[in-house]
Amino acid sequence: MDIKDVIKKVENLYSNGIINKGPNHLAVGWKSKEEQYLRFQKLLMVISDKSKPISLLDFGCGYGELLLYLLNNGFNISKYYGIDISLPMLIEFKKNYNISPFKNYYLFLTDKLNLKLNFKVDYVVVSGTFNVKFEISNKEYKKYVIEKLREISEVSLKGFSFNLLTKYVDYKRKHLFYADPLFFLITVKGIFLNMLV
Ligand SMILES: C[S@@+](CC[C@H](N)C(=O)[O-])C[C@H]1O[C@@H](n2cnc3c(N)ncnc32)[C@H](O)[C@@H]1O
Repeated sequence: MDIKDVIKKVENLYSNGIINKGPNHLAVGWKSKEEQYLRFQKLLMVISDKSKPISLLDFGCGYGELLLYLLNNGFNISKYYGIDISLPMLIEFKKNYNISPFKNYYLFLTDKLNLKLNFKVDYVVVSGTFNVKFEISNKEYKKYVIEKLREISEVSLKGFSFNLLTKYVDYKRKHLFYADPLFFLITVKGIFLNMLV
């Protein structure tokens, strides 16, 4: 299996999820809305001053819950960009925001930031996007995640945040990707941000 097959299977998984379960945490694989929101809360700590207008890219935006969270929690979003590989997710996203007064959002059906974006954003946020790897090896999937993080670091002006499942768990499911937090900390800080001392 190569990474293209993985993306196709992941796309099917989430498209079926949103079609069968509707726009809620279950469609995107979170146990509860509280857990989904806790992740948003932590990831958004990268934003230093939430009262200042910012542009934000949500990589793996799903049906748009992060945007709702941002708008309901006092973040000053001048432009929001959502990227996802699942068309049914983006259709649901649009449906949800039809009635919202917030119209400064732009959606892209892709996983390729570097090909689609010819602009930069203040922040990129990634929640849950790198959880499922199916049958590809850990090594190959890790390589893919690093490539994506490199693209992300290149389009974000002020910062980016992402989450991964940790390998420090007592039960693992075969199709999920469990990362070594230390490896990613060193890679991101050391290579992309040049922050290692
Ligand atoms: C676990 S869900 C999380 C959705 C949203 N971030 C949230 O927390 O509500 C992961 C989302 O990422 C999308 N996704 C998975 N792999 C992707 C990729 N390589 N590029 C873009 N989107 C991807 C899926 O279609 C799905 O909507």
